[in-house]
Formats: sequence, C-alpha cells, structure tokens
Amino acid sequence: MCGIVGYIGHRPAVPILLNGLKRLEYRGYDSAGVAVLRNGQIEVRRKAGKLRVLIEEVARNPLEGMVGIAHTRWATHGEPIDRNAHPHVNPHRTLAVVHNGIVENFLALREELESEGVTFASDTDTEVIVHLIDRHMQAGRSLVEAAREALRMLKGSNAIVVLSAQEPDKLITARLGNAGGIVIGHGEDGEMFVASDLPAILEHTRRVTFLEPGQMAVVTREGAQVFTLEGEPVAVEITTVPWDITAAEKGPYKHFMLKEIFEQPRALMDTIAGRVDFRTGEIAFSTLPLTSEQARSISKIHMTACGTAYHTTLVGKVLVERLARIPVETMIASEFRYADPIVDESMVVLAVSQSGETADTLAAMHEGKQKGATLWSIVNVIGSQAMRIADGYISMQVGPEISVASTKAYTAPLVDLYMLAVQLGFLRGRITPEERLELVEHLQYVPGWVEQVLSRAEAIHQVAFKYRHMRHCFYLGRGINMATAYEGALKLKEISYIHAEGYPAGEMKHGPIALLDEDMPVIAVIPQDPWYEKMLSQVEQAKSRGAPVIAVATEGDERIADLADEVFWIPKVPWMLSPVVAIVPLQLFAYYIAAELGLDVDQPRNLAKSVTVE
Ligand code: M6R
Repeated sequence: MCGIVGYIGHRPAVPILLNGLKRLEYRGYDSAGVAVLRNGQIEVRRKAGKLRVLIEEVARNPLEGMVGIAHTRWATHGEPIDRNAHPHVNPHRTLAVVHNGIVENFLALREELESEGVTFASDTDTEVIVHLIDRHMQAGRSLVEAAREALRMLKGSNAIVVLSAQEPDKLITARLGNAGGIVIGHGEDGEMFVASDLPAILEHTRRVTFLEPGQMAVVTREGAQVFTLEGEPVAVEITTVPWDITAAEKGPYKHFMLKEIFEQPRALMDTIAGRVDFRTGEIAFSTLPLTSEQARSISKIHMTACGTAYHTTLVGKVLVERLARIPVETMIASEFRYADPIVDESMVVLAVSQSGETADTLAAMHEGKQKGATLWSIVNVIGSQAMRIADGYISMQVGPEISVASTKAYTAPLVDLYMLAVQLGFLRGRITPEERLELVEHLQYVPGWVEQVLSRAEAIHQVAFKYRHMRHCFYLGRGINMATAYEGALKLKEISYIHAEGYPAGEMKHGPIALLDEDMPVIAVIPQDPWYEKMLSQVEQAKSRGAPVIAVATEGDERIADLADEVFWIPKVPWMLSPVVAIVPLQLFAYYIAAELGLDVDQPRNLAKSVTVE
C-alpha cells in the first residue's frame, strides 16, 4: 500500500518525513524515497527495498531542507527498482511528485508526451504527472494552474503531492477519487503536514483537514487553501482528531462500515499494486511463489471459509475452473472439518479469512494438512494463524477492518482470486502471455468502477429509505454472481435483522417461488454476464407474481430499466470481475437500511468480528 508524507515548516524535513513513512510501514511497500528542497534545488534519494535501506542511503548522502515529500511504493507500473521509486522529478529537477493510485490513461499520456520529445526516466505511470505539470509550467503557468491543468487530464483514482523549486514555499496536493486519501495537518508556528494516512502525522498535530475526492489544496507555512479541480475555493474544515486512534480513523464517516465501503477503491488498488505489472501482464505473489511445474501438478483445489469469506470462494471456483481448468470444490469450513473430505498430496486446500483466526477455518486447514494437502490462505491480519500455518499465503492488503460486517475484506480477495486464477492458468499453459496481459489490464479499472458505484450512494440511500420497513426479501443471482446474491443477503440480515434469503435464481421454480407476492421484494443481481438472459426470465417471473424488483444492472440496460421497480446501476465491466463491482450497491443498500433503522451498524447483536470458538 503506497504511503505519502509531506512537510513544510522551519525544522529539518528529512527526519519528519522518514518518521512519517515509518508510521505507514505496516501497510506494506517495496521501495521508498524522499525529496527535499534546498537553495532552489530539489534533491532526491530513492531506494528499492525496506525503509532502512533508504535511511542508510540518507545517512551516507545526507539531505537538508525544510520542505519535502516522501513516499513508500507498491509497484504497479514497472518493477520495484530504484529508478521506479518515488518521488519522480523532471529532467531539470525543478519538480518532484509522489503519487498513490493508478493513472488509467497513462499509456495514452505517455505516448503523447514522448511524441513531443519528452524522455521518460522510469516505467511508472506517476512520471506522466511530473511531465504534464512541467509542460504547463514551461508554457508560463503558475504551479497551481499547471497542477490543476495536469490533474484534470488524469483518469482514475489518485492522490498526489507536488514540490516545486520555482515556487518553493508551497506544496500542492490533490485527491482524485477514493483510491487514495489525503489529510492535511495544521501544526503550530508555521508548520504544515500532508499525508495519505493519519498515523503519519498524528505525533505532530491533531488538527487536520481531509480532502474530499475532486479537491486540491495549496499548503504553505501559513495554512491551507482548498479548491475544486475547477478552481472554485472550498471552505477549509479543520477537525480535531480525538486521542483515541480508532475513533480518529473513522474520520468523517458515521460508522466504520460506511468508511470501509468507501475505502474499497483504495483497498482494491493496494490489492493489485505490488502484484501485477500492467505493462507486461506479469503477476507475482511474493508470499505464494509458484512455478509452472507446481501449478501443473495440482489435481484439485478445495476452497474453504466461513460467511462472507466463504462467498468469495464461490466466485473463486468459477474463475479457477474457467481460467486454469483445475477442478475446485468449495465447502463451508464448519462442514469441511467433519466431512472426511477426499484430500491427498496432489491437492491444495485454500482457506480465505479476514481475521485468520476463525476456529472453523483453522480446523479445516488442519484437516487438509493432516491429509497431506498443500495449504494456501488468503488472509488480512498479518501474523494470524491462517497465515502462519499455510505453506503460502496472499495478504489482503485492505488495512484493518473494524466493522463486523465485512465489506472491503470481501471485494479484495475476489481480486486476489482473479489474479491467482489468471496466474495458474498462465503457468499451466491455458492462457497465452497476450491473454494474460489482457486479463491483467482490466484490473487497473477496478478501483475506478467501484468508485463510480460509490458516486451513486445517495440514489441507493433513497431506495433503502423506501424499503427500510420490509420484513423479508429474496436476493437472486446466477453463475458467478450467485455469490453476490448470497453476500448481499448476508449483509442485509446481519446488520438490519431483516430476513433476507440469497438464492440461486434457477432454483426458485423448485419451491421458493411460492413465497413471491407484493410483500416479498426481490433483489436481482443481473449484470451483463453469461447468465444474463436466464436471470432476465427470473426477473420477469418475479414481476408477474407481483414482487417489487430492485435490480443491480449494467448501465444502458433498457430491458431492465423497463422491468424493474428500482435499479442500482453499475458500469459495464468484464464478467469475471463483475462480482467485485456488483456487490457494492448491495453493501450500501444494507448499510443505509440499518442506519435508517437506527441500529448499531458496526456491532450487530449476537455477532463478533472474529469467531474464534466453534
Ligand atoms: O475472519 P473471517 O473472514 O474468517 O470470518 C469469517 C466470517 O465470520 C465473516 O466473514 C462473517 O461472515 C462476516 N463478518 C459477515 O459480514
């Protein structure tokens, strides 16, 4: 997970910046760098590897200055080597930029800049931002104007800080979308801070301003001015962070669940970062290294988990079977442990767990181990048992999930499973390098697609308000989105206490359809996937029995617009990634219903975040 720290004041910047990076280390990274401004010159130190490598480099070649920026990077474009580490600078070293996110139109912008004679010094998408700002400044624009013009050209979710030797008494920062946050810290006596996350600056100040998506700020020793990307001034709201860091982390959100739903673009970006290279299509999990021989020798994968985590395995099964042609069996962990499953040394048992401490999941892993299987896990909590006992693991990279109702720890493993399926398919010779590149390229748009759904939260809120007093409902889905229906129903029932049943739509006619009438809303998950036509006929059947229908459907789908009572629109996405996007409106729907009912959203009755007993 990339981290950003910036400082402007009267003290040496470097110790403050490096200390800030240390506070963000827990988020993970593969290289780090720092840039400071001194006597009209920008000086940079950048190193692949752990922060201590950078600290040693700075000790050997000291840097001085009272304005600076620093960064920890997870690679997305270009390998984790010194020249790809941030900050990135222009050839004259008058500009430096640090950046979290993915510039979706990076290739087009790079080609445009190269055709104008710009030479790139790195493989990163970040470097286009430097050259764009530089180009506008060379055309006579001020730093603020040049940055604004450049930022408006970027597609995707990004957080940025810019340092300029030509205007040395300011930092420019911006937040485009939800994939990277920016918090500005208001210090004492002419000191100001910028960071991607609160922990980086909390030791200096608790008076902070959170930038909203689409805002940029000019930060000087005197304070911060905030603007929209169109240049309209925005009132600067200063929040005093309470001493309780957990409460502090809630930021402007009423509940952790809402915060965590909105964190998904960033969580997904961090899930992808460090694992894929968008230029080559290569995928690598450092904690689950795989050779072609190993991938070819797997006869079967047993996927096992509980609750929300179990639903990810249903998607994983479709992906691994389609892309890698490995048979996959999914089983709820509490059943697996007692089912005497047929497992042998040629098989993998793959457990998914946010906490990594769920008793049933751990017992299922032990069962697999005893029978000689290779153990893999996808897990969020670093150092948890599910991580330690596995032969290889993928860490979710979503940061702490506080709300009992899991949200970002659902979508991130879906992306992990997609990457794993692509990699297994490639290593087994089922996918060509070209096909792998295409499948990987889609990943860069995932944070942006989720972002688009989040931008419609208010419309979903209104529908939730209308349906808040329903007592029962069905969630229907098919194929890869059957899991979306199950997960949507689980979200609603666990926090709103409304009876919600997730069902495979094709099974309705074998019994449950008898329940449908005008008091039984149907939430139909019907994106443009291979099961679309089949789902459409289920929706027609529900309508003909008088059931109100809320559909999750793809923008521009006129058939659904005509048929459903309400539609939660999602962007057009490749079907294998559709579960990642289609669940988001259902998370919001569940959240808003529970919040409107005045319930304890983050701590629902009878539930615990981590179920460590049988
Ligand atoms: O920590 P785990 O992912 O192993 O937890 C498994 C389930 O208890 C969990 O996914 C649960 O269903 C969710 N918190 C529900 O939102």
